[in-house]
This record gives sequence, structure tokens and C-alpha cells, in this order.
Amino acid sequence: MTDIGFLNDRFMSLEEVKISPDDRGFQFGDGVYEVVMVYEGKPCLLQEHLARLEHSAQGIRLTLPYTPAEWEQRILEGVKRCGYQHCKVYIQVTRGIVPRDHLFPGQCSPTIFMSFREMTPLDENLRQRGVKVITVPDIRWGRCDIKSLNLLPNVLGKQQAKEAGAFEAIFIREGVVTEGTSCNVMIVRSGVIHTPESNHHILEGVTRKILLDLAKKEGLSVCERTIKAKELFEVDEIFLAGTTIEVMPVVAIDEKPVGTGQPGPTSQQLSASYQDFLSRLV
Ligand SMILES: Cc1ncc(COP(=O)(O)O)c(C=O)c1O
Repeated sequence: MTDIGFLNDRFMSLEEVKISPDDRGFQFGDGVYEVVMVYEGKPCLLQEHLARLEHSAQGIRLTLPYTPAEWEQRILEGVKRCGYQHCKVYIQVTRGIVPRDHLFPGQCSPTIFMSFREMTPLDENLRQRGVKVITVPDIRWGRCDIKSLNLLPNVLGKQQAKEAGAFEAIFIREGVVTEGTSCNVMIVRSGVIHTPESNHHILEGVTRKILLDLAKKEGLSVCERTIKAKELFEVDEIFLAGTTIEVMPVVAIDEKPVGTGQPGPTSQQLSASYQDFLSRLV
């Protein structure tokens, strides 16, 4: 079992992967990406991730080199080659390699990179105890629904959270909650789950969608709407949702307790439902 890479249709060791400094991903962040978890050898929610990759690519006027079936075939091959039952697949497509110029290149084929790495499981104590978050201004561009390589505000936000002893930073745009630096945000008020509606200011999370469907199936009320930042300090529960963190209860925000200061019942219920959902996929 070993971590492996894939570059422009060829599998290789990660050390072998060499990308030119003229790659537009390196020069401009001119590319898109996805992260897919593999459980028991099976890529989880792959079609949903591939559909979002297509949405992101279209959003930056980049034509993906493969159809979903062609992606799937290569991803399954990568999972087989790396040999891990549980691993993390990173997919990145850039506009290709060409001498630096802002304009789209006339003739240029996209750079396709994937890595297949062993999954380091999240510390389950975190989920049991819940995490702290901070709020930060959302200084990102206007198309956060595109999973683009330009992650500098996310990088800065996450680092700021770490330095404040927190797990994640929640972005606030003009007084409104958007999302975490690498996850979506959900709140619970009087038993109802609320989450920011999908628009250009958030990434439409695959986990978010599954959780909303699971909640509805379990008879919980859900409401997608604009959430004011100040509401975060009045709610019963907050939890984060994302492919790698799954469901993560938040127990403090900007050093103030959320609800009772313990992971709340709805977060715990949905976390268990999500685990059950994942176990039924494999
Ligand atoms: C900014 C942002 N929002 C939300 C998410 C959650 O999306 P998903 O559930 O598809 O992982 C991510 C995941 O990487 C993200 O980077």
C-alpha cells in the first residue's frame, strides 16, 4: 500500500509528479478541484463530486478532458493501485501549461492531477467533545460556488482559527453567514435545522445535501435561508458539514458557548445518521 499520483493520464509515484512553473494553476490558480473519500475501497458519492467538478469547470470556462465514466474508471484504477481500503482522492484540473499571460491560451491542454493518499482518520474525541470556531470576514470573490484553486482567504481564515485555538473559521459576508473555510455551516433553533441557501456565496456541499435529505427523511424540519451573523450567538446548536469532517458539532463561537456548551442532540442524531448512510454505501 502506498500513496500514488496521476498526471495527464499516467499513474506514477507522487515523487515522480513534476509540474511546470508555467502551469496556469501555479501562476493564476486557474483551475478547479475536488476531494473524494474512499471507504472500504469505494469512492464515496463520486457522481456528486464529479457533477460539481463539471459545474466548477464550466464556471471557469474549462472543458474537462474526461466524461464522468472516464473519471470513474481512472479513480477506481488509482484506488486499486494504491491498495488502501480507506483513502483520500484529490482531483485537480488546471487550464494547462503555457507562458504566463492572463488571456486564455489558444492551444493548450489541461493539466490533470490526482493523488491517492492514505486517509488519516479524524480524532473521534473532537466529534465527541465538539469544537471551537471563530468568525472572520468573508473576503472571497463572488463565485464561491466554484471549487477553484484560489483558496487564499480560506487558508488565512483556517490559520487564524488555529492561532486562536479554534478548529475552523466561519465566514461572514456583510453581516450574513456564508460557510466555513472548508465546510458548510448548519444551525439548530427550536429543533429546526437552518443552513444558508445555496447561491454564489457558498459551495454547495455534497455532505450538506445528504444531511438535508437525511434530516427530512427523519422528520426533522429544515430551512435554507439567509442567516444573520448575530444569530450564531442565539442558537441551540451549530454544526459543520464536509466530506472530510462529516458532521462536527460546534460548542463555542468566538469564545462564547453555543447552547449548553456541549454537542447538541440534533448534531449528534445527524452525525449518527450520516455514519449509517456511509456504512450503507459500502
Ligand atoms: C469552502 C467549502 N465549503 C463547503 C465544503 C463542503 O463540501 P463537501 O461537503 O462537498 O465536502 C467544502 C469542502 O471542501 C469547502 O471547501
